Amino acid sequence: MIKYSKLREKLKVDSLNANSEDLAFFTHYLHNHKNGVSKSYEKKAKEYFQVINENLDIICEPEIQAMLPIKWDIPFPSSETPDFTFIDLFAGIGGFRIPLQELGGNCVFSSEFNYHAQRAYELNFGEFPFGDITKINIDIVPKHDILCAGFPCQPFSISGKMKGFEDTRGTLIYHVFKIIEKHEPQVVFLENVKHLVYHDNKRTLATIIQHLEELGYIVSKKVLNASDFGLPQNRERIIIIGHKKTKFDFSKIKKKSKSSLKNFLDKDNNFEYLEESYTILEDQKVQVSGLVFAGYRNKTIRKAGVRPGTEHLSRVHKQPNRIYSTEGVHPALPSQESSGRFWIWHENKVRKLTIQECYRIMGFPQDFKLLNNKAELYKQIGNSVAIPMIKSVTEQIKIQLLKKEI
Ligand SMILES: C[S@@+](CC[C@H](N)C(=O)[O-])C[C@H]1O[C@@H](n2cnc3c(N)ncnc32)[C@H](O)[C@@H]1O
Repeated sequence: MIKYSKLREKLKVDSLNANSEDLAFFTHYLHNHKNGVSKSYEKKAKEYFQVINENLDIICEPEIQAMLPIKWDIPFPSSETPDFTFIDLFAGIGGFRIPLQELGGNCVFSSEFNYHAQRAYELNFGEFPFGDITKINIDIVPKHDILCAGFPCQPFSISGKMKGFEDTRGTLIYHVFKIIEKHEPQVVFLENVKHLVYHDNKRTLATIIQHLEELGYIVSKKVLNASDFGLPQNRERIIIIGHKKTKFDFSKIKKKSKSSLKNFLDKDNNFEYLEESYTILEDQKVQVSGLVFAGYRNKTIRKAGVRPGTEHLSRVHKQPNRIYSTEGVHPALPSQESSGRFWIWHENKVRKLTIQECYRIMGFPQDFKLLNNKAELYKQIGNSVAIPMIKSVTEQIKIQLLKKEI
């Protein structure tokens, strides 16, 4: 049996520097050669195998079958006995894939066009996602039970006025609708920032729901917060669930007790301390969100346009100037480090979270492998999903909609 690690070494996966559709076909085939979806990938995977076989020198037979099955020595292998299938669109680094696999799901297709995210995904799941969803021939997408998509939010030009979802043409969700129309998955599982609720005067969300209904789904939606699922992060996300027969009941989702940031921190690391002057308040305010406002960087006090007596507050006007106590939760990790990672007050010092802490407060397991690119690592985790939250929702999808035990 060939180990995947050996195969990827021979394939020189680490030094590939362009989006590789060949690698996507090949790795999708390796994962799915036993199940009914292999035909989607077989032809291209075999062609690619013919090209690379000479260089592999670990396989003596000219047929791809001689190499199968692969020994999946990766952090997150698929279940040997899956009890549902799913696809992972806008897959990022696999925030959906980890909990759905844990619950017995088999991922039969993934798509993500950011090369760094594709590489992180391959490193952890042994599968290179297909690229730009707008360019994918949807005939290769296999049938599946759950369609997962944490899609980027875009306005629609003529919301809901035209027949069908043609009015969303030119946007990314249009391609999601096309896949739903073709495959009619039992469950549609969408995730987005809370702002989607208000986006474009609420028209974006209304249009999405309208089109899902036109496609025959009964739709439920709710804003959930990562802090209700045992994570010390105030991260609100809208979850939209569609099913053809049953309305998903969010009230059955199991929540976990609240936790504070101090329980998730590294003991030692290369900490980045605040080296400029700051103020720590004696009376630290706990906000409704669970954030504990501890103080602020002593930036210049603005006087113009500021109400008398509130000048010092102008310092905390900008989010990156605020300091939060680790007795509370952390603000939502942003997808761009430049837009401000936050300062935390811990053991009488002010510092930022380390990368490992960022992954931990999103619920990523300790054995998730990180690539060596700091800016990308922050971007990827800020873009991702709170894993225990997705897991709790999926448990209920399994019970309520797939009618399976967990
Ligand atoms: C909000 S993130 C979703 C992250 C993911 N749920 C996770 O757990 O990491 C959206 C992702 O969509 C990807 N994306 C944006 N446009 C895309 C496109 N046209 N085709 C494929 N992926 C795309 C981005 O690169 C980004 O990783």
